[in-house]
Amino acid sequence: MARFSLAFLLCTGLAAAKYIVPGARWHDTDGNLVSAHAGCVTLDEKTGKFYLFGEYKVEGHTEGGGVSVYSSDDLATWDSHGLALAPVEGHPYISPQNIIQRPKVVYSDVSKEYHMWWHADNSTYGLLLQGFARSPNISGPYTFVSAQAPMGNWSQDFGMFTDYKDGRSYALYSNGDRKEGRDVYLTSYNNDTTSLEQIIHRWDKFDLEAPSIVQTDKSYYALMSHKTGYRPNNVVAFRADSLSGPWSQPFIVAPLNTRTYNSQSGFTLRIRGTKKTTYLYLGDQWDSNSLWESRYIWLPMDIDDRRKSLSLVWNDVYDLNVKTGEYAAVKGKSYLAKDATVSGKAIKQEANFASGGVIVSGIYGNDSTVTFTNIEGSGKPQWVSFYYQNTDDMGFGDQPGGTPDRIGGSWQLRRIASVVVNGNVEKVETLFQRDTHKGIILSTPLMLNLEKGKGNTITVGGLWNGFDYKGADLDRIVVYPPEPETKGRH
Ligand SMILES: *[C@@H]1O[C@H](CO)[C@@H](O)[C@H](O)[C@H]1NC(C)=O
Ligand SMILES: *[C@@H]1O[C@H](CO)[C@@H](O)[C@H](O)[C@H]1NC(C)=O
Ligand SMILES: *[C@@H]1O[C@H](CO)[C@@H](O)[C@H](O)[C@H]1NC(C)=O
Ligand SMILES: *[C@@H]1O[C@H](CO)[C@@H](O)[C@H](O)[C@H]1NC(C)=O
Ligand SMILES: *[C@@H]1O[C@H](CO)[C@@H](O)[C@H](O)[C@H]1NC(C)=O
Repeated sequence: MARFSLAFLLCTGLAAAKYIVPGARWHDTDGNLVSAHAGCVTLDEKTGKFYLFGEYKVEGHTEGGGVSVYSSDDLATWDSHGLALAPVEGHPYISPQNIIQRPKVVYSDVSKEYHMWWHADNSTYGLLLQGFARSPNISGPYTFVSAQAPMGNWSQDFGMFTDYKDGRSYALYSNGDRKEGRDVYLTSYNNDTTSLEQIIHRWDKFDLEAPSIVQTDKSYYALMSHKTGYRPNNVVAFRADSLSGPWSQPFIVAPLNTRTYNSQSGFTLRIRGTKKTTYLYLGDQWDSNSLWESRYIWLPMDIDDRRKSLSLVWNDVYDLNVKTGEYAAVKGKSYLAKDATVSGKAIKQEANFASGGVIVSGIYGNDSTVTFTNIEGSGKPQWVSFYYQNTDDMGFGDQPGGTPDRIGGSWQLRRIASVVVNGNVEKVETLFQRDTHKGIILSTPLMLNLEKGKGNTITVGGLWNGFDYKGADLDRIVVYPPEPETKGRH
């Protein structure tokens, strides 16, 4: 067995093992935040490597950052290759003032080049075009070719789909927010993916955006989100036997009121392994307070063609084997807030939806906290998920808070909690706790350093989020084992 594992390791390389952790701060192999938002993952058939393309957003800049590119063997460890499409000062379509959004990249069998398409616009979204650039090298640099109006119409929130059965690619786009628009188009490209050819389907007046299609052996599922800006909502899917339809009524793909686990659709990936085909939802968790800190919610999808259903499967931490196509949830150990110690004004409050019927509320600043005790650690960095409820959607009586659930309210996207391990206040971790809903408990992860043994404590308080020092209500934490040194040793 040991010899077999060694051989396996030698022939697959010794890449650092990594789990996929939705909603965490993802770092590349240089230690920088992975900045590739609302993009796509393209498999390079020649090398078997995955390339992640997306909007490059840095602190202080919102638009015009260009398109970044990263590569990975396992969809978890990312090497940065800088900008695939760099902004050009003074350019009418790709200057730093232009909108360069939702980039997608496909390989053209005809030109033997990589073709990149995106939503090209000016800063006020007045152009609504589709940009096109190309490169002989998947990681670029890409050369700008054109910005076009698709079949003469407007284009917003660009998506792309390639049918694995015939290799044909399609553009997906909304024709904008105007009353005459509000449709989503599915339009085929010519065989070289250099221009659009024919409208295949139009989803009329559903007023959706961020479209993506995932294909199974029998079906197509088109996922789209509602239009609520950077605030997440209930993503829906339509199903059909063929791209031209008939398409089903839309249905919701994640538990109601989780707002699709606080994410927006944008891309989906089909991983055809030697043992299993796994379908991944590649969602964005936008942070309008600091766009550059937006996160990624990548989750497996449970698709049942017989029942004609698709739903996202939440996992705090999972281990995906891109070769076999299998994935497994990593198992952690729970510590309930019911059994924790509270200080100051933090209280254990009845909550019939919480673990053990109790949730800790009133967490505030550094003097009203909750401390989990007797936590077993490994002595190595490990993931800890915090299960919380944030009811800011109710709005606060004493301040201009509130949200879509309150007419005229303004949305607080997240609270920020402080997390301190073993009383070490020199090292305060910041935990972003996105809005959930009344009675909805979601989780969000942090990588923490716990000491080896069972004597660790984790203390959670509240930090300033721009409005207040309130921390979200806590249900429990789940401590995960450290990541294995190498992939393939489970
Ligand atoms: C964007 O384009 C539209 C349509 O041409 C135009 O009306 C608008 O002024 C432009 N915005 C900027 C900032 O140039
Ligand atoms: C393609 O990109 C890779 C990685 O960015 C680089 O090492 C290589 O030199 C590039 N090749 C060409 C032909 O530009
Ligand atoms: C785009 O399509 C809509 C719906 O068919 C139509 O009303 C509108 O005039 C079109 N816009 C352009 C610029 O062609
Ligand atoms: C692509 O289409 C052109 C014209 O429509 C045709 O001449 C060519 O043979 C096609 N190439 C492939 C690889 O299908
Ligand atoms: C506790 O928070 C207050 C602000 O509410 C701050 O002034 C003080 O420095 C903090 N104390 C510690 C020990 O962090």
